[in-house]
Parts: sequence; structure tokens; C-alpha cells
Amino acid sequence: MSDAQYGPDFWDEFYRGDSTVWSGAPNQVLVEEVAGLPPGRALDVGAGEGADAVWLARNGWRVTAVDISRVALDRAAAHAREYGEELGSRIDWWCADVTTTAPERAAYDLVTAFYFHLPLHPRANALRGLAASVAPGGTLLVVGHDPRELELLDDPDQGPSPDSWFMPEEIAALLDARVFDLQTATIRSRTAPTEPANRRDEEHDHGHGHDHGGGHSADVVVRARRRT
Ligand SMILES: C[S@@+](CC[C@H](N)C(=O)[O-])C[C@H]1O[C@@H](n2cnc3c(N)ncnc32)[C@H](O)[C@@H]1O
Repeated sequence: MSDAQYGPDFWDEFYRGDSTVWSGAPNQVLVEEVAGLPPGRALDVGAGEGADAVWLARNGWRVTAVDISRVALDRAAAHAREYGEELGSRIDWWCADVTTTAPERAAYDLVTAFYFHLPLHPRANALRGLAASVAPGGTLLVVGHDPRELELLDDPDQGPSPDSWFMPEEIAALLDARVFDLQTATIRSRTAPTEPANRRDEEHDHGHGHDHGGGHSADVVVRARRRT
């Protein structure tokens, strides 16, 4: 994996600056998919500026928010502090590269990875570790940008490499059918407005976008429940 494009320095630089990158609102698919689940321990992977982790904590979850970027996590912790000390105490901020450091096994009632676009091999390694970290009865939720939108990028060289995009079937195939009950593996159109959400210029977007913008109109959504 190229550290220049995907390592901590790249992401620290991405998040460094005066303004936040993302909208501060939780991802629409998170709200839709998690609203009906009983709260427990959650792991949010690639937590960025923490909007999803904060939403989970506000909805009763005890959250571990992991990101490769310390700068992102500092921003995220500041965002959480806006909601008070009690909420902040419900979130652990963990700086780690999940392609090389696997989370605790069978520990989380919910594991989420939103717009976690890495090249194929590190992505597969990371996702195996994430699947193993789901507790019996727990839920894995992986959401990405629709790869069919790759051709719509103004400058594909600015975005993640083409093999960083994934179809639902690829994620589903990584899950052991004896262990996971696949509940959703689909591409879903968004109902939220798609005007740019980045608080910064489009040039900072690097094609990653966000649920509320970046010109994206559909998401890959994979949800599975661990049986055993
Ligand atoms: C496109 S952003 C999405 C952020 C957030 N999930 C959201 O929806 O707004 C991808 C995030 O994954 C993080 N990331 C990238 N590679 C990672 C890795 N190997 N381990 C942990 N986090 C990583 C980046 O720092 C970034 O915050």
C-alpha cells in the first residue's frame, strides 16, 4: 500500500487546517440501519471527524472510534466535547491502522466502516479483522461509494485508486456463511440531498465525498449479523 496516498501522513494532511472536512452530521445509512438495534459496544472504523461515533454515543452506544489519523481523532474528540463530558466518556478514540492491527476479537455488538476505501488486499485484510471483531449476535455494517460513479469523477487521478472501490458481492464473499447471516448486500440510492457537504473546497475531497454530498447519489450497503 502506498503510504503517500493511504498512510497516516496522507490522512493527517487531509484533516489538517482551520475548517472541518465533513458536515458534522451522521451518515444517513448509519441512522437508517442502526436505529432499530439495541445499544451495546460499537466499533466505528475510519471514524474521521467523529460524527458517526458521536451519533452512536448519543443513542446509547459505548463507542470505540478508530482512525489512522491522529489529527482526525483530535478533531473528533473536540466535536464530542461539544455534547458534554458524559457523552465524551462514552467514546474511546483509538489511533491505529486496521490493515495491520486487528481490533479485539468477538468484542463488538456493532462494527461500522463508512467510506473505508482502501486498495483490494489491505481492504480484505482489514475487513477480515473487522468481521472477527463482531460479537455473537452482533452486526457488521460496511458502506462505500457506488463504484459505478468512478467514471463520473472529474479527475479520477485525484480520487482513491480504482481498486479501492468495491461492490457489495466482494464484501459479502469475505464473510463466512456459517458464521454470518447476510441481511443486506445492495447498492442503494440516497434520499438525502447531494449538494457538496465538504466544508472545504472540492479539491480537498480527493474523491472520498460524504454521505451528504460530494455529488454521490448511491451507496454500497452490506449488513450482516453474526450468528455464533
Ligand atoms: C473517506 S474517510 C471517511 C470518514 C468517516 N467514516 C465518514 O464517513 O465521514 C476514510 C477514513 O478512514 C481513515 N483511514 C484510512 N485508512 C485507514 C486505516 N488503514 N486504518 C484506520 N483508519 C483509516 C481515514 O483517516 C479517514 O478518516
